[in-house]
Amino acid sequence: MQEKTAPEASFVAGEQRPYTAAPEGPKRVRTRHFHNAKQQGIPITGLTSYDMLTAQIFDEAGIDFLLVGDSAGNNVFGYDTTLPVTVDELIPLTRAVAGAVKRALVIADMPFGSYEGGAEEALHTAVRFMKESKAHAVKLEGGLRSAKQIERIVSSGIPVMAHVGFTPQSEHGLGGHIIQGRGEASERLIADALAVQDAGAFAVVLEMVPATVAARVTERLDIPTIGVGAGPDVDGQLLVWTDFAGMTSGRVPKFVRQYANVREVLTDAVRRFREDVNSHVYPAAEHSYE
Ligand code: KIV
Repeated sequence: MQEKTAPEASFVAGEQRPYTAAPEGPKRVRTRHFHNAKQQGIPITGLTSYDMLTAQIFDEAGIDFLLVGDSAGNNVFGYDTTLPVTVDELIPLTRAVAGAVKRALVIADMPFGSYEGGAEEALHTAVRFMKESKAHAVKLEGGLRSAKQIERIVSSGIPVMAHVGFTPQSEHGLGGHIIQGRGEASERLIADALAVQDAGAFAVVLEMVPATVAARVTERLDIPTIGVGAGPDVDGQLLVWTDFAGMTSGRVPKFVRQYANVREVLTDAVRRFREDVNSHVYPAAEHSYE
């Protein structure tokens, strides 16, 4: 494995330039910077975002890419899986995120039912995201089974992030939230990762994969691997923001470290507001016009 750098590191433009922290890194993150980052052993950081305010905060904090995930199905629209969410629902969210960032690469997640039909359907959806939301790239799920779609989209000049391992859009087919690539299945996972690289993907998400298998995939690939529950030996880390910031009410997956408890902070603020209004403490004189 390549040597790891400090966790606060963020990658820079130019093939051979040394590490520089996020504010001095590239003005605008491009897909070629992902390649540079892997070459230089500098971890790539990503978070999901579904709105303008979080996009601004994550961008200003130096996160390299924002994924407008189909996890908006769960985290914005309240569906119990990602399956019902549509292109029409995701485009306005992606437009809000893409319009808010100055530096981060914004990736639009292609939802279930928008690309499985074949290469032309996939291209049609990718073009809609690029034109209507101003995303900088798209993501879709699947290894070998999605290679033709990736090839077609990339050949039209649209960068594609691939996604293998546990793919939430197939959760019924996979039999639930199950770790992928264990035992003999590791060879199939590696074949899937190689297939999306050959098809032209600029990076690949590895979701819920044993750390040792993710390390093997990372070593085999030229393109960066982005782990979501794939251990430390990958080229970057991605988390769903509502999980990492403690907004989610239910259980979060084992691989998530909660960096804040925004739900608790907000609940406390809302309770104090309600109590102040009920007890006539708010608004006070200083909040009133003459
Ligand atoms: O939609 C999403 O948030 C995702 C990540 C979990 C990879 O696809």
